[in-house]
Amino acid sequence: MQANAARPRYAETKIPPKQSWLLYCRAGFEQDCAQEALRQAKQQKPIVGAEQFAPVADSAYAVVTLNDQLLNYRELIFARQLIRLHAIIAELPERDRLTPILDAIAALPGNFGTLWLEVPDTNEGKLLSAFTRRFQPLLETALREQGRLTDDPYSVRLHVFFPDRHSALIGSSDPGNSANAIMGIVRQSMPPEAPSRSTMKLAEAIEVFMDRGEQTRLLRQGMQAVDLGAAPGGWTWQLVKRGIRVTAVDNGPLKGAVESHPLVQHLKADGFKYAPRKAADWLVCDMVEKPSRVANLVGSWFVSGWCKHAIFNLKLPMKQRLAALDSALGGIRNQLDEAGINYRMMAKHLYHDREEVTVYLSRTRH
Ligand SMILES: C[S@@+](CC[C@H](N)C(=O)[O-])C[C@H]1O[C@@H](n2cnc3c(N)ncnc32)[C@H](O)[C@@H]1O
Repeated sequence: MQANAARPRYAETKIPPKQSWLLYCRAGFEQDCAQEALRQAKQQKPIVGAEQFAPVADSAYAVVTLNDQLLNYRELIFARQLIRLHAIIAELPERDRLTPILDAIAALPGNFGTLWLEVPDTNEGKLLSAFTRRFQPLLETALREQGRLTDDPYSVRLHVFFPDRHSALIGSSDPGNSANAIMGIVRQSMPPEAPSRSTMKLAEAIEVFMDRGEQTRLLRQGMQAVDLGAAPGGWTWQLVKRGIRVTAVDNGPLKGAVESHPLVQHLKADGFKYAPRKAADWLVCDMVEKPSRVANLVGSWFVSGWCKHAIFNLKLPMKQRLAALDSALGGIRNQLDEAGINYRMMAKHLYHDREEVTVYLSRTRH
């Protein structure tokens, strides 16, 4: 199936092929997102006879068609959201968008806990969001009157996604296998005291990778952390504001609130050569370096017993992003497996990540 270069078109099909999935991603990463989802499905069994929608460059979403394979949201790196696609309305009339959307929803079985109206995370999407804000109460009221909305956050969500002004994709997501955030975006606000915007990356990583219990248990006052590539100090600031003592390693200067903070020790040193005198609870690392080099360093910190948990960034300016990630993450798995270390590792292309992904790695008992 070919896609129009200007805006995605799904011909006249109103019902997508069975088992189609809609995934949101950062604009420019559609190919990586689709490729990764297809690969996850193929690891279960080969995909037979499913024609794929060609991803549209910079559209900030992708559609993949599988057989009966299931996708696991937490194991996908590039997908911000994971939605079962049920209907595609290709030509929405300007004057009455409500009727065809209600008709398409009427054909779906069951009720829905919540209704999310969404747009792509693009400039065009931003313009469309004024429309979705006006449209949301209309559609919500109509669905409530029909008894289709139950206001239960644990029940299946209904998504109406507008890739452009003329079309709508209708799907549903399972709260247990998707992002609990509209458009899959866990937004952070910029704290005025933080020395850099990077601070939002670590704040988002903590929200995305750790539930409330883990945040309380694993980020406690009195803990020790090492921040490699710390300057100007946005990640360090996230840690000290939780009462964690930080060794900030960077030849560059720390700024603002962390520059002379009592919990911060600034070491002007090379992050690849630094060895802690005693083990830390946390390692965080945002050094701009080859992903394989950073991965190898983090793996060796775990093998040496120098930290229990880590959050780190892998920069991906290259074309073969998935291959670079496979090699970096595979390298860590090999190091930890050989050392007999049990761990949990998750990687995500966060909203505040650009050409990079963030990884969470935590030592576990079993
Ligand atoms: C993206 S910035 C980090 C921003 C920081 N996370 C924050 O929140 O403000 C990358 C930093 O890594 C540092 N860096 C790069 N290579 C390094 C190395 N080998 N050793 C120590 N720091 C390094 C740079 O000096 C730079 O300050």
